[in-house]
Amino acid sequence: MITEERERRITYKCRKCGDTTNAITGTLRYSEQICRKCFGKKKDKRPKELNDLKGAEWAKYSLSVQVYADTRSDKQRNHGACYPVSLASQYIQKYTKRGDIVFDPFTGVGTTHDACIKLERSCIGFEINVGFAREARGDFPKDSKYNYKIYTQDAANLDKHIQPDSIDFVLTSPPYASLLKKVKNNFAYKWKEHSRITSIANPKPYSNRKGDLGNLEYQDFFNNIKIIMRKLHISLKDGKYMAWIVKDYRDLKNGIPYVNFHGDIINAGCSVNFKLWDIVIYDQTKFRPLVCLGYPSMKYYHNIGHSYIVVFRKC
Ligand SMILES: C[S@@+](CC[C@H](N)C(=O)[O-])C[C@H]1O[C@@H](n2cnc3c(N)ncnc32)[C@H](O)[C@@H]1O
Repeated sequence: MITEERERRITYKCRKCGDTTNAITGTLRYSEQICRKCFGKKKDKRPKELNDLKGAEWAKYSLSVQVYADTRSDKQRNHGACYPVSLASQYIQKYTKRGDIVFDPFTGVGTTHDACIKLERSCIGFEINVGFAREARGDFPKDSKYNYKIYTQDAANLDKHIQPDSIDFVLTSPPYASLLKKVKNNFAYKWKEHSRITSIANPKPYSNRKGDLGNLEYQDFFNNIKIIMRKLHISLKDGKYMAWIVKDYRDLKNGIPYVNFHGDIINAGCSVNFKLWDIVIYDQTKFRPLVCLGYPSMKYYHNIGHSYIVVFRKC
């Protein structure tokens, strides 16, 4: 899943027994240069406060640039703007323990729920599009000791259903103001022409419902995002985390070469008292076509081949 991790596993001889072994750089076992067997003799008895990860997993998942397999289910392809379930799984494992409650205010077709089902966490979500919410619910287990729930509503109503200080982790990717209404029709064509990989359908505007953030202009959109983030801050337990998967983009139709979307998400979170805790690059270059943008004019543009995972903490 993550190619870089292999490059950071180093082989060496155990300082105690001389056996050949390997470990990930930065782990206690690597810094002490001992093998698994010798290390096991002095087990780490410190309580696991945040998650259920072993030290090696903790280190491996902490790389600030990550690649995830770009596998998508049919429901995700139809939706068009989902993150891979492997990304959701990794974040849920980093920031929660088994049995914790995860919240996704923009559930889509339920990628966060799917990962929670697999990892035995409860999950609550909001999704304004009735069809997406129905698809997400279709994958809920018939019988489980954990809770799975989606409110088909504007996430701005979350305070009517979610108790203060009750959520262990928020994982989400928001709609993008009115961006989907601006996606040029010929973009899909360009994609096919330049790419050797199968594209996923361009996402269509999500709904016509009042409250659908995908129908708002940029400033209005962020006013609403702040209202939702303020309510998320109240719902989250003290010391817990919230991760937003977002991508910057260009609005060339309106003469804007670069929209610093992740920067504005950071400002929105900090304005309602979240602390910016981490920014991780989600590298998607391998899964995107290389398009020659601007050639041969004065306008040189990079192919934006990455998203950001912006991590906030309530503290
Ligand atoms: C980027 S998609 C999320 C996809 C999701 N992460 C997944 O993997 O399925 C954003 C979603 O937010 C929904 N949405 C837009 N405005 C909303 C609002 N005010 N409240 C709740 N959901 C909303 C859209 O219908 C869309 O499905």
